[in-house]
Amino acid sequence: MMLSDRPYRVTERACAKINLYLDVRSKRTDGFHELCTVMHSVSLTDDLSLSFVQGEAQVSFHSNASFLPTDRHNLAVKAALLYMEKTGFCAQLRIDMKKRIPVAAGLAGGSSDAAAVLRAMNRVNPSPVSMDVLTEMAATLGSDVAYCLLGGTRLCLGRGEVMTPITFDRTLHAVIAIHRRERVSTPAAFAELDAVYHDFDGSVPFRQEAPSLLVARLSDDKADLKQLMYNTFEAAILPRCPRAAVLKACLEEQGAYAAMMSGSGPSVFGLFTDAVSAEKAEQAVKSAYPTAFAVAVQSVKASH
Ligand code: C5P
Repeated sequence: MMLSDRPYRVTERACAKINLYLDVRSKRTDGFHELCTVMHSVSLTDDLSLSFVQGEAQVSFHSNASFLPTDRHNLAVKAALLYMEKTGFCAQLRIDMKKRIPVAAGLAGGSSDAAAVLRAMNRVNPSPVSMDVLTEMAATLGSDVAYCLLGGTRLCLGRGEVMTPITFDRTLHAVIAIHRRERVSTPAAFAELDAVYHDFDGSVPFRQEAPSLLVARLSDDKADLKQLMYNTFEAAILPRCPRAAVLKACLEEQGAYAAMMSGSGPSVFGLFTDAVSAEKAEQAVKSAYPTAFAVAVQSVKASH
């Protein structure tokens, strides 16, 4: 697309993810932790609109969430500037975002916004870069951003950026819940794990499922997800976030066949057999806990 003085606008959706499995296996010498996790995209989205005008590299950011930074501390802005720097495709860019995914919740909202910006920019660039190059760029922005580029159901190893797609044909009906006053930043959650477990020397009661077995079991339509689900962070974060623990119990009371914290928390999700029971549970959580955010979501398939 050749840009001009008239804004050229594209839209892109950023999906939230939940972790069906999250094993923090060891602490690396670079300070990051080695993960074995299964991420799954769901239909809770931030909606982005990007308007491009010909000109020097410049990014402005506007959103309904006024607490978000508008400079390069915002991962979406950082992604746009990185894309311009790496590809030479420069423009005066305005990003408008309708933010729905709770921040600092373990749902990869910020990472997914950054991935959506990269996808949108690559669509508009007359000389787009390959998916491999885009994935590399994504991984420099954050551990989850490479996954968020593609979405769907994937096994993610390393920092989270080494991905294998999983054939997962089921549509999950989930309710995600979070108390508005509880937030957990990712670095704080990893620091909390380090404090609880002192060091990752193999003495920790981690699940240590072999990745290949995990993929095989998840690909089986009849596998019992409750048996498979696991999150190392639960033991460290739920005691610090009592409202999240209450919301998890509430989802179970409402009939969830499995419930767990997502990512580094404190959002929790419950899985229901169908959309109707998920929506009923969403309403029940909202009326029992008016200060909580609850939303019924479904699986979203990978974009590639
Ligand atoms: O990669 P990202 O920016 O999302 O990571 C934020 C922080 O979370 C890192 O600085 C690190 O402290 C922690 N982290 C980690 N191991 C990972 C991913 C993140 O320790 N695999």
